[in-house]
Amino acid sequence: MHEKKAIAGFSKWPKSKKIKWLVDNFSQTPEDTGREMERFWHPDAVLQRIIDGFSENTVSNYLLPYGIAPNFLIDGRYYAIPMVIEESSVVAAASSAAKFWADRGGFHTRIVDTRKMGQVHFFWKGDFVLLKSLEPELKAVLNSRVEALTANMRKRGGGVTGMEFLNFSQLEPDYYQLLVSFETCDSMGANFINSVLEAFAEGLQHFISQHPAFAANSPKVDVLMSILSNYTPDCLVEVWAECPAEDLDILCGAMSGPEFADRFAKAVRVACIDPFRAVTHNKGIFNGIDAVVLATGNDFRAIEACGHAYAARDGQYRSLSRCEHVDGLFRFHLELPLAVGTVGGLTKLHPLAKQSLEILGNPSARELMSIIASVGLAQNFSAVRSLITTGIQQGHMKLHLQNILHHLGANEVEVEAARVYFEDKTVSHSAVGHFLAAWREAEQIAQGLVMAVKK
Ligand code: MEV
Repeated sequence: MHEKKAIAGFSKWPKSKKIKWLVDNFSQTPEDTGREMERFWHPDAVLQRIIDGFSENTVSNYLLPYGIAPNFLIDGRYYAIPMVIEESSVVAAASSAAKFWADRGGFHTRIVDTRKMGQVHFFWKGDFVLLKSLEPELKAVLNSRVEALTANMRKRGGGVTGMEFLNFSQLEPDYYQLLVSFETCDSMGANFINSVLEAFAEGLQHFISQHPAFAANSPKVDVLMSILSNYTPDCLVEVWAECPAEDLDILCGAMSGPEFADRFAKAVRVACIDPFRAVTHNKGIFNGIDAVVLATGNDFRAIEACGHAYAARDGQYRSLSRCEHVDGLFRFHLELPLAVGTVGGLTKLHPLAKQSLEILGNPSARELMSIIASVGLAQNFSAVRSLITTGIQQGHMKLHLQNILHHLGANEVEVEAARVYFEDKTVSHSAVGHFLAAWREAEQIAQGLVMAVKK
């Protein structure tokens, strides 16, 4: 191992030199590290160059499973939904909820609004009351300054939809803000929003320095930063599924449908009351949401940050979903902000993101909001259903058992025998190992006996 120290020029090195340096300086298993990094290079050099282009200092690719959840009936149309996720059971859970609801009218959605937000944060010692009195003129100047920038977006029905100057100087001396709202149609719109905001910031500085209403020696505007906000509470979608509570009978073993509905509604209320439960409950929703967001080349960090802020919009973190069981009707509902795009960004550059969108029928951003929200609700439905009936481990353990058996090289007969044996027992690596050893020993004895009889 070499002595670790800061290095210069890493980003310029070829991939093989980066890996060698990594192996020489940081690997615990040098022979494995180099081999594994290279093993996941894509054999298609053109494709590999595209993937490398998404990020910096790339040395390998990190594979994640790409699954399909079929049978999603959303607003009267069937979808097969691509999901990229490493956690077992998530795609299976989404698929099973989709199938259940498809037979009961499916998921219904409503786009509440698609407004996105951006801010110019500035510090200024000038006369804010005077600035406010000039707001109509200033807005016109700023809008005309970005005419060329917004021309294409306006043609598509979007652009800057509003702006407002806000005074935060009570909270932070001299701090003001220009809050701007945007419609970005089918694009996520980050570059568009940020470019407009930067142009607005320059325009604001210019307006104040040139306008005759401000004295020649009036203080200058100090623009601290111009950036979109990932909090988009008005880029909002609602999704719900409903059925007579008796229809839930088939989901809950010995429990009746109405009993199940009551327990389900209680579980959702608990997640509305208690933040410890709410975070886990919402995490289950995002299991589904993130998987589709990733598969379609959207930004899951932005979606998560916004969703969690929305979950705490009244000052306490709560469940994003709600459930009612009233007059024999079970209604499960989710409302959350989803600022996604179906053009621009990675959506067409990443070959699998492009495929995902094609599989979804090349949806508009609004339709994609509906699709993603439906998967979130389906995921939440399956998780809460398991929790209030069998418990979550039963399903997980089935997959866990499969993985252990695979790891121990079990054949088909052994897999089936283990499945039956562990139906009422706790799965652990050592328990499965012992079971397999005993099974194989018994097999050998049985074969020995057969041979002896044949002789
Ligand atoms: C696990 O990834 C997600 C759950 O914990 C969600 C929930 O508790 O509602 C099962």
